[in-house]
Amino acid sequence: MRKLLLAVVAAAVLMAPAVAQAQSPISIKFSHVVANDTPKGKGALKFKELAEKYTDGKVKIEVYPNSSLYKDKEEIEALQLGSVQMLAPSTAKFAPLGIKEFEALDLPWLFKDDETYANAMKGTVGKWLFQKLEAKGISGLAYWDNGFHMVSSNRSLMKPEDFKGLKFRISGSKIADQYFRLMGSIPQIMAFSEVYQALQTGVVDGCENTASNYWTQKFYEVQKDITVSYHAHLQYAVIVNSKFWSGLPPDIRAQLEKAMNEATDYTNSIARQENEDALAEIKKAGKTTLHYLTDADRKAWQEAMQPTYKWAKGRVGQEVLDLVAKELDVKMN
Ligand code: LMR
Repeated sequence: MRKLLLAVVAAAVLMAPAVAQAQSPISIKFSHVVANDTPKGKGALKFKELAEKYTDGKVKIEVYPNSSLYKDKEEIEALQLGSVQMLAPSTAKFAPLGIKEFEALDLPWLFKDDETYANAMKGTVGKWLFQKLEAKGISGLAYWDNGFHMVSSNRSLMKPEDFKGLKFRISGSKIADQYFRLMGSIPQIMAFSEVYQALQTGVVDGCENTASNYWTQKFYEVQKDITVSYHAHLQYAVIVNSKFWSGLPPDIRAQLEKAMNEATDYTNSIARQENEDALAEIKKAGKTTLHYLTDADRKAWQEAMQPTYKWAKGRVGQEVLDLVAKELDVKMN
């Protein structure tokens, strides 16, 4: 009897870790570089809420906003290594992986408006681009919107000449590098978390970003003039480590996909309003002057930046340009 009892106790002790392991939730680290109070930040928190609900607590999503876990470049490397499972970088940040095609989305004045952008990404372009990531051990789950870029410095930027000689921080796209150069300025790639200080200390003179990022990172505090130019678009790819994702139990993965689809609809539905609200807050703060282009100004910018399209062929390749042109029903030249 005593022997049996001991055997039962021993078996229970031996099995305890297995039981505990079976019960402990699957942990997903979701890292990103912006504030919680932005379209992407809110999208990540919505995904957490829905994913934990649909999997009945079997999955725990840890969201790390504001570059608190990794900065721009490091986060993609960390995803490939499996140190983090989910990210939502701007599509401008894939070139260091050797995938340049996403940069086609950064072409200036490409998307006429929010709807044009959203429809284009639902079509073949979005899927085609995601396939490019697979060879790098990365799977694309969704595209999240963050609207159009404004541009700023400590002088008003109304004519292409106004850009001359100014140093602008860019996030990584060579297309952005090219259009800033065509305006006579000097672009410089820099991690998002370093932009405020670089603007404050004059390491760079200006930058481009969406209103929600200007507001939550307080860039407006250190930039006297913002031009609400909407000259290019900022979009994110929500990505996962492929091995991790395909290794999940199928029922769990299905619930996470459902959560991601709903979080995507939510994020894309709030992006425009979030940016409008942020712009209103910047205006109210009264620290910076907002400028709006006249039709003639816009035309001058468009003409100055136009050679980016020709240059892009050598950078992103004809195939993606053709796909985008077809999707948008426009001519690329
Ligand atoms: C940037 O670096 O400016 C953006 O990618 C930041 C972001 O993720 O919105």
